Amino acid sequence: MALKITVIGTGYLGATHAAAMAELGFDVLGLDVVPEKIDMLSAGRVPMYEPGLEELLHKHVVGIEGSSGRLRFTMDWAELAEFGDVHFICVNTPQKHGEYACDMSYVDSAVESLAKHLAKPALVVGKSTVPVGSAERLAGRIAELAPARDEVELAWNPEFLREGFAVQDTLHPDRIVIGVHSERAERILREVYATPVGEGSPFVVTDFPTAELVKTAANSFLATKISFINAMAEVCEAAGGDVQKLAEALGHDERIGKKFLRAGIGFGGGCLPKDIRAFMARAGELGADQALTFLREVDSINMRRRGHMVELAREAVGGDGSFLGKRVAVLGATFKPDSDDVRDSPALNVAGQIHLQGGQVTVYDPKGMENAKRLFPTLGYAESAVDAVRGADVVLHLTEWREFRDLDPAVLGAAASRKLILDGRNALDPQLWRAAGWTYRAMGRPRA
Ligand code: UDX
Repeated sequence: MALKITVIGTGYLGATHAAAMAELGFDVLGLDVVPEKIDMLSAGRVPMYEPGLEELLHKHVVGIEGSSGRLRFTMDWAELAEFGDVHFICVNTPQKHGEYACDMSYVDSAVESLAKHLAKPALVVGKSTVPVGSAERLAGRIAELAPARDEVELAWNPEFLREGFAVQDTLHPDRIVIGVHSERAERILREVYATPVGEGSPFVVTDFPTAELVKTAANSFLATKISFINAMAEVCEAAGGDVQKLAEALGHDERIGKKFLRAGIGFGGGCLPKDIRAFMARAGELGADQALTFLREVDSINMRRRGHMVELAREAVGGDGSFLGKRVAVLGATFKPDSDDVRDSPALNVAGQIHLQGGQVTVYDPKGMENAKRLFPTLGYAESAVDAVRGADVVLHLTEWREFRDLDPAVLGAAASRKLILDGRNALDPQLWRAAGWTYRAMGRPRA
C-alpha cells in the first residue's frame, strides 16, 4: 500500500514539502498549531509569497474544484499520528533571544506531541535545521514516549530549498541526504523519494551527525563565499579595482565557480545568519570552537556591509554628513528577490539605520511591503518605485528584483530631486543609468 505522509509545521519548508509530496502522488496530512495558517492552507491559499506554491496547493488541496484531493490540513495530533506512516518535522529553529544558539523548543515540542500518539509503526523524519547531536537526543525521546516503542524510528533528512525556488528545489532537489539507523528507514525514504531519485537526484545515505552537519556546513560555505567576495570588494575600493570584473574572472576557474560571488550589502534571511551563529555555538559546546572561529569573521564582514552602505548614502547626500532633512528612496525591503521575507533583511536594516539617523526614508518593494510595515512601521512606504523616488536626494537599490533592473532611468530621473543612485547589489547596468544622466555608484567598483 502507498505510504501516507504527514508534515508538521507549514512555513516555507513545510507548506512546500506537503504540496510537493502530494504532487509526487502521496496522500498527505499537514499540521500546524496556528489556526489561521490551517484555514488559509485549507482554502488553497499560501501565508507567504513563494512562486508556484499556490498553484501546487490548488492542484491538490481537498475540496478545491478539480484538485487531486490528496492534501489536507489539521490541528489534531491524534488524527495525524493515526493517519501517517512517515511524519516529516518541518518546524522552524530560530536564533535564541540574546544568544547565538538555536532555539529547539518548536522541534522538541513537535516531537513530543507527536511521539505520545504513535501507537503504530512509523518513521519520524526531521527536516528542520538543528545543532548536530539533536537527532540522537530526539531518537531517545521518541523511544521513551511512543506507545509503539521499537516500531517507531527516527531519520534525519535536511532540506536545502532556497526561498523563491522552494517548489523547484523540493520537486527536483540537487541532492537528497538521509541520516538513518536502519535499512528499514533507508528503504522507506527511498520509496518516498523514488521520483526525484529516478530523475537523477543523488541520494546520500549517512549517519545522524553527518546528515545534520551537511546542512550547516553547506550554509556556512555559502556564507563564506559571499563574505569572501565582499571582503574583496573592500580591497577593491581601497585599491581602485572592480569587484564585478574580479568575480567574473575568478568564476571562470571551475574549482571556484561563479555562483554566490555577487558583492553587495551581504546576506540575510531566516537561514544563513542564524545558521552560522548556531553552528559556532554548537561547536563551542562540543569543544571544537577553534574550527569555526573563521565564521565570526564571515559574520562581521557581512554585518559591516550594511554600515558601509549607510556611510556611502551619507556621503552621497553631502552637506554636513547628516541625514537630517534628506530624502532617501530605498528600492527593496526583502532579503532577496522573489520572496516576501524580510527576516534579517540587509535592505530593511540599511533603511532603518538611515531613518533612525533622521533621514526621510521611503521604501518600495514588489512583495515585501506588508511584512516590512509590520517590522518597521515608522518608515515611509510608497506604492511604486517611481513614487518612492519622487523628490529623493539619493536612491538606494538594495534588493535585486527584476522589476528594478527593468526600470527606465529616464522616468525615475524625472521624479528624483537628484539623479544619484547607489547600487547595493551590483545588479543594475551602470552604462544605462549613466547614459540617462545619473551618477551611478556601486560597492567595490570604481567611480566613473
Ligand atoms: C539559503 C540556502 O541557499 C539554502 O540552500 C538553505 O536551504 C537556506 O538558506 P535562502 O535563505 O533562501 O537559502 O537564500 P540564498 O539564495 O542562499 O541567499 C541568501 C542571501 O545571500 C540573500 O540575502 C542574498 O541576497 C545574498 N547573496 C546571495 C549575496 O549577497 N550574494 C550572492 O552572490 C548570493
